[in-house]
Amino acid sequence: MPEYLSTAPTRGTRDFLPAEMSVRTQVFGHLYDVIERYGFLRYDGPILEPAEIYELKSGQEIADQQLYTLTDKGGRRLALRPEMTPSVARMIAGTAKSLQFPVRWYSHPNCHRYEKPQRGRVREHWQINVDIFGSESSNTEIEIFELIHDMMEELGASKDMFEIRANDRNLLASALTDIVGVGPLQLPEVFALVDRWEKYPVEKLAASAEEIGLADKQFEKLTEILASGEALLDELPESVKEASNLVKVLKTSAAGLIRFDPMIVRGLAYYTSTVFEVFDTSPENRRALFGGGAYSDLAGMFTAQKIPGIGFGMGDVTLMDFLETHGLAPAPRSEVDVVVVPTAEELSDAAREVAGRLRKAGLRTSTPLELRKLGKELTRADKAGARAVVIVGQEDWDAGNVTVRSLATREQQQVPLDSTAAAVTALLA
Ligand code: HAM
Repeated sequence: MPEYLSTAPTRGTRDFLPAEMSVRTQVFGHLYDVIERYGFLRYDGPILEPAEIYELKSGQEIADQQLYTLTDKGGRRLALRPEMTPSVARMIAGTAKSLQFPVRWYSHPNCHRYEKPQRGRVREHWQINVDIFGSESSNTEIEIFELIHDMMEELGASKDMFEIRANDRNLLASALTDIVGVGPLQLPEVFALVDRWEKYPVEKLAASAEEIGLADKQFEKLTEILASGEALLDELPESVKEASNLVKVLKTSAAGLIRFDPMIVRGLAYYTSTVFEVFDTSPENRRALFGGGAYSDLAGMFTAQKIPGIGFGMGDVTLMDFLETHGLAPAPRSEVDVVVVPTAEELSDAAREVAGRLRKAGLRTSTPLELRKLGKELTRADKAGARAVVIVGQEDWDAGNVTVRSLATREQQQVPLDSTAAAVTALLA
């Protein structure tokens, strides 16, 4: 017996067969529309990048555990991109001279991370990236939050289905230093601990805090401030609050778009102030749906020019889980709207002519590649999701007519060739 190779995709990666692809195309098409209505321009870039652009700025988790690296035949150390932000920072830095800042850019790359496959996590995911470069105004935060709300609304989500939780790393650093008494060297580790706060049981958190060198009292205080929500702001020095874009946002009408939450820090190392994550309010999806933040110096890897950025990455896996949980995923589209069936092989040319007219009118149309009996063709058309069939018979054709049939009601009518597209369009309406 020959040994066949597996037809399954590599662990952690997915095939998208046409039905699934149809759902995704509709979902992402809606999202591109909303993003472009804000004036964002789409870009793309290579899947392979120098490994060091992630090792320098993305943080330990990505660099040490999740990066797919390779050495190419020219001896270059490359990585499959685990995220898009370093790439877009590279492109912005490289073309800065010709750009009129601030710029709004978006993309939809596939990203690779070597993670343990589980609900919401795979090894290749598709991530919509939306970023604004070249402005430090708090209006950038407001625009990003508004955009997220519009994107979710476009997908049919109501306000009670999701929540944007936002924080500013500088506010948290101030609270940790001044209130909890965390030392400057402990700060990065405490940030990493806060990032795991909702994922770990309390005993594990306490053990990690002890390893970092926090006393019991400090751990208690830390627990207290993380749970304090917006009340924490009353405890922080004015100078720190004045420098925070997020605090500014909280004083505008956009405050209602978010919830201030000291627990949000995010895993990536390059965020320098505002950070946010969007959560599904359903307990079925406890992981963040997507997230992002502001980074003042990521382009600094490539240029001396200071180009701040702010944006987010929205992954397809968590988004589809969200849509399915809330019954918002669209149905796959049918293969075609209409099938043109000749009653005999000799009429194939005629059928192709009719099909051409229907396609010109914007209808998704097919004709049989291997003609079967009319009854069989009607069944196949029905299975393909067509709602109309145009039958081309010899007598009709000789008189300049065709027969338009509804697959739902089985009613049919004879129409002149010139009126076929109008008759089918009316039937589909
Ligand atoms: P991130 O939080 O690492 O941020 O990823 C953003 C989103 O991508 C996640 O919330 C999730 O939806 C999705 N995602 C990430 N890893 C996986 C995975 N292994 N499997 C499935 N989905 C995943 C970033 O990547 C930032 N570069 C986003 C950003 C853009 N910040 C500013 N601009």
